[in-house]
Amino acid sequence: MSDPLDLAGLRARLAAVAGLDAAALDAEEIGVLGRKQGALTARLKALPSLPVEQRREAGASLNALKLEFEAAFAERRTALAGASRAAARDAVDPTMPPRRDWVGSRHPVTEVTAEIVEIFRGLGFSVALGPEVEDEELNFLALNFPPDHPAMDMHDTLYLDPEGSAPGAGGRLLLRTHTSPVQIRVMREGPPPYRVVIPGTVYRNDAFDPSHAPAFAQIEGLAIDRGITFVDLKATLTHFAERFLGPDTRVRFRPSFFPFTEPSAEMDVGCLLCGGSGCGACKGTGWMEILGCGMVHEQVLRNVDLDPEEWTGWAFGMGPQRIAMLRYGLPDIRLLYGGDMRFLSQFGGLAG
Ligand code: DAH
Repeated sequence: MSDPLDLAGLRARLAAVAGLDAAALDAEEIGVLGRKQGALTARLKALPSLPVEQRREAGASLNALKLEFEAAFAERRTALAGASRAAARDAVDPTMPPRRDWVGSRHPVTEVTAEIVEIFRGLGFSVALGPEVEDEELNFLALNFPPDHPAMDMHDTLYLDPEGSAPGAGGRLLLRTHTSPVQIRVMREGPPPYRVVIPGTVYRNDAFDPSHAPAFAQIEGLAIDRGITFVDLKATLTHFAERFLGPDTRVRFRPSFFPFTEPSAEMDVGCLLCGGSGCGACKGTGWMEILGCGMVHEQVLRNVDLDPEEWTGWAFGMGPQRIAMLRYGLPDIRLLYGGDMRFLSQFGGLAG
């Protein structure tokens, strides 16, 4: 029997569909059923050229074949998808130990800073920020440092334009050595009262050794209002220590000196590691120094055009790296600057 449409050839291709892989299946589907080049499509298009008596039967056969092809392609596609899922399942080795889930956490210095800021925010302080490149005038002179103060020495401070105007005359740029100049910025920005905390990075021309870093964090505090006394300073900072370190924390204030406060003090807390009996961390004293503070110097108030007869206040400065070292008993400040996961993961970086 003649087979002008080569139906036998098409049937052979139909039988082969069940053995095709995914890529060959796509190609074969286009090759048979494709609208332009498909072998079966071309034969359907050729029907009108057949003798009339053959047309009906050939048309019926081709359409039946077309349905069979469509079914065969769909079935093969389903089978391949199932096989690849099974393969993926087999690729999982259930005896492998699970990967640990990483849970992000804050760096200890970020954590300490955030906790301190939060405690002062609860007391009505707001957060102020200032630039790390500062004018010598604000960093030193407006804060009542005399022009020949050793802190202003090239050996201690990182000047950005050492060839600039004369030392101590103001106008030279430097990397701020403390956050205290932001006190001046806050007070020059608008009228009192002020209650601000100022977190930020400060820079000193220091070696990077176990207890020093050339860049480190500070948190400054400033409260100025009518009628503020040293009692407010002591009460607020004692409250802070109890909130931050626990209700039983003991504090003491020792006289100290800063050019921008008078009187000035250092606040110590009972040693965080031994509780006060004396250990290596507190050098046997039972106390640890955590901040400097004092009543804002009259001259500083005058430097920002405030009348010291009307306005008084207090300030403090502390170092979150130092506090993190005391709190966690760290022997070397450089641990807080490295990315060593064996160290950092102890602060909640790994779950489980
Ligand atoms: N600025 C001081 C420093 O960097 C810290 C300080 C001490 C800040 C006493 C203050 C303060 O506001 O009252 O060492």
